[in-house]
Amino acid sequence: MIRAAITAVGGHVPDFILDNEGLSKMVDTNDEWITTRTGIKERRILKVPGKATSDMMVIAIEELLKKRGITAMDLDMIIVGTITGDYVFPSTSNVICDKIGAKNAWGYDLSAACSGFLYALATGSQFIETGRYKKVVVVGVDMMSSIINYEDRATCVIFGDGGGAVLLEPTEEDLGVKDFILRADGAGRNYLYQAAGGSLMPPTHETVEKKLHYVHQEGQTVFKHAVVNMAEVSAEIMEKNNLSSSDITWLLPHQANKRICEATANRMGLSLDKMLMNIERYGNTTSGTIPLLLWDYEKLFKKGDNIIISAFGGGFTWGSIWVKWAYDGSQYGK
Ligand code: UT7
Repeated sequence: MIRAAITAVGGHVPDFILDNEGLSKMVDTNDEWITTRTGIKERRILKVPGKATSDMMVIAIEELLKKRGITAMDLDMIIVGTITGDYVFPSTSNVICDKIGAKNAWGYDLSAACSGFLYALATGSQFIETGRYKKVVVVGVDMMSSIINYEDRATCVIFGDGGGAVLLEPTEEDLGVKDFILRADGAGRNYLYQAAGGSLMPPTHETVEKKLHYVHQEGQTVFKHAVVNMAEVSAEIMEKNNLSSSDITWLLPHQANKRICEATANRMGLSLDKMLMNIERYGNTTSGTIPLLLWDYEKLFKKGDNIIISAFGGGFTWGSIWVKWAYDGSQYGK
């Protein structure tokens, strides 16, 4: 059986840091509230004129190619999980392929909000497992600052910009993407969404005046669904595969809220030292959080490590993926 192994990781966050102190000068909030409710201390914001989502991933993918010792011409496909593509169309995948010179590759964007990287990873792994392709890049990235209202304290303290990419290659060893459980419930769409800009409500002066082109979130409702569903699906993938908590090396939970992550680890019976976090530095980068965890902690990963990736987000979408790590990360890492 051919499996899809992650063989390299790249990531990028913008240089500009917006910390809790800075936010408290913009809206009625404070470091204590943000830290205790979410675990976030600072987030990165892309402020370079003319730069957007694709530019962050050009840097990430070039890092990944360098680590693996290949060129963009070797790539077959780039799948981008994002809700903040450079354009409504063409896809950010198209733009990235052009900017990095991946002339033999094609791809598309995939919209699943905070579960975007999980959906993209599951999709990319199928192209490898079928034997169709040898090198598929899977991206999770968002430039949330482009759709956040910095006068709305309920959302602006949470989100940030950034993301990363992984390379998938075939292996016949017992490594790589081992299993996934992905879920969706469109009935959740009214609790976390961007009302205007799509075909239901095309942008007009009025939609802009009413600030309908920004993210709207009913935080408590989303929290309640996230805390249950992310924990349950993570326990379910363990039960389905007869994995006990001692079999799990690392949990990489979507970085939306420290309390949701801890509830997930508890439900899995994992001690918190097996849970990797970086929410304090980047906030919630939506599709970007999981690849940013892989990028930040790559040096910890050893061949054969059992990694559980879990997320919950807008849609609602959620899920869990079991990855058996394929290489010694200590040679890389930051
Ligand atoms: O990644 C995609 C999925 N998203 C999530 O998983 C997010 C899930 N939701 C959450 O993480 C939490 O609901 C939030 C962090 C968004 C909010 O935390 P909360 O504990 O649910 O707060 P709340 O919305 O219930 O608000 C509690 C209080 C309110 O004041 P009153 O009515 O009790 O006086 C808010 O007005 O906190 C107030 N508040 C703030 N205060 C200071 C809301 N935002 C802020 C703020 N600073 N930024």
